[in-house]
Amino acid sequence: MKPMILSKNRAANMASMTSHSFLILLLLPLLITADKCNKDDKRALISIKSAFNNAYHFASWTSTSACCDWYGVECDPGVPGNSDGSRVTGLYVITDSNVTGPIPPAVGDLPFLTSLRFHKLPNLTGNIPSSITRLTRLSILLLSWNSLSGPIPSFLSQIPSLTDIDLSFNKFSGSIPPELAKLPSIQQFDFSRNRLTGSIPAEFGNFPKSSPPNLFLSHNSLSGDLPVSLGVPEWGRIDLSRNNLTGDASFLFGAGKSTRTIDLSRNEFAFDLSRVTFPVNSTVVDLNHNKLTGSIPAQINQVDPTYFPVFNVSYNRLCGEIPAGPITAMFGVDSYFHNKCLCGSPLPPCK
Ligand SMILES: *[C@@H]1O[C@H](CO)[C@@H](O)[C@H](O)[C@H]1NC(C)=O
Ligand SMILES: *[C@@H]1O[C@H](CO)[C@@H](O)[C@H](O)[C@H]1NC(C)=O
Ligand SMILES: *[C@@H]1O[C@H](CO)[C@@H](O)[C@H](O)[C@H]1NC(C)=O
Ligand SMILES: *[C@@H]1O[C@H](CO)[C@@H](O)[C@H](O)[C@H]1NC(C)=O
Ligand SMILES: *[C@@H]1O[C@H](CO)[C@@H](O)[C@H](O)[C@H]1NC(C)=O
Repeated sequence: MKPMILSKNRAANMASMTSHSFLILLLLPLLITADKCNKDDKRALISIKSAFNNAYHFASWTSTSACCDWYGVECDPGVPGNSDGSRVTGLYVITDSNVTGPIPPAVGDLPFLTSLRFHKLPNLTGNIPSSITRLTRLSILLLSWNSLSGPIPSFLSQIPSLTDIDLSFNKFSGSIPPELAKLPSIQQFDFSRNRLTGSIPAEFGNFPKSSPPNLFLSHNSLSGDLPVSLGVPEWGRIDLSRNNLTGDASFLFGAGKSTRTIDLSRNEFAFDLSRVTFPVNSTVVDLNHNKLTGSIPAQINQVDPTYFPVFNVSYNRLCGEIPAGPITAMFGVDSYFHNKCLCGSPLPPCK
């Protein structure tokens, strides 16, 4: 805005203006922006900067500039409570190994925050501070690719505004808190690439049948049987790959379900695949490296071929002839190999 106003008026004004009033005109936009930032939010941000030992990342966070102009800070002038200056709605600290230590509890002092992102900070350590439960408007909590540890806190269930929790690529341990099933608006959990143990909570079957969150739990050490309650919600995307999960998972499937991605690869699942029907709009069905028995149901060829790039049942204990059809023909040997006695194209003919 500033350059536009100046260029529009420059020719007319320049000549008639004294140097004094011209200076004020130049400073005006600065004075307005300095007003823009709520002072309590600014104080909280300064305290976050100092908790990170004033790392270079925060060089633009100076007391003489408006906090809404600081690197990684987003404001919404439209949110209620802005009579004292715009409120901070987004905080992003991304890709910097000089940002060290735990997440400062002062993040809880930004009450209008809807989005909090700490991403790719390899020296960000410690637990998730409980002060974030004060963020009653928080929708996106993204804490991925850091070195955070400790449990996934059950107190996250006290922030009902949460829609997206991404804690992937950290060192979180312990089990998944069942309380998270109470989050009313959640659309996605990504807890993949951590050190989670225990089983998946049966309460996760209580999500709304037609709009459960996407569930990404791959690369952990989860174990035990899946609770049958998980067969109720129609998961958009469910990725349980690379864990130690056992037993039946056939109830996740069903031709009439809206599920698109089911990745169960590299677990210890053991069920009869013959009993399964595949969601007609599947895009990924990856079952490789399990202990599946039975044969591939002919119904696989009724899946919509438009978006179905991954079908993989390799490294199981399947038998029988691969049912010929448009879907099975789309995949090569490496989708089917290393089974007990699976046969037929693209594998060698059945005897
Ligand atoms: C990190 O700190 C070192 C040493 O102070 C400095 O040379 C480097 O530029 C900093 N990196 C970033 C991304 O700020
Ligand atoms: C950040 O962690 C790396 C190892 O991941 C280490 O080599 C480096 O010294 C750390 N940087 C700081 C500023 O602590
Ligand atoms: C699965 O359990 C076995 C021992 O039962 C263990 O050696 C292995 O590391 C576990 N795998 C994962 C991915 O947790
Ligand atoms: C599959 O996709 C089609 C087209 O988007 C849609 O009309 C249909 O309801 C979907 N089927 C299921 C079971 O979700
Ligand atoms: C299927 O999984 C196996 C085992 O991980 C892998 O070697 C193969 O490339 C995969 N094939 C496809 C088409 O995804």
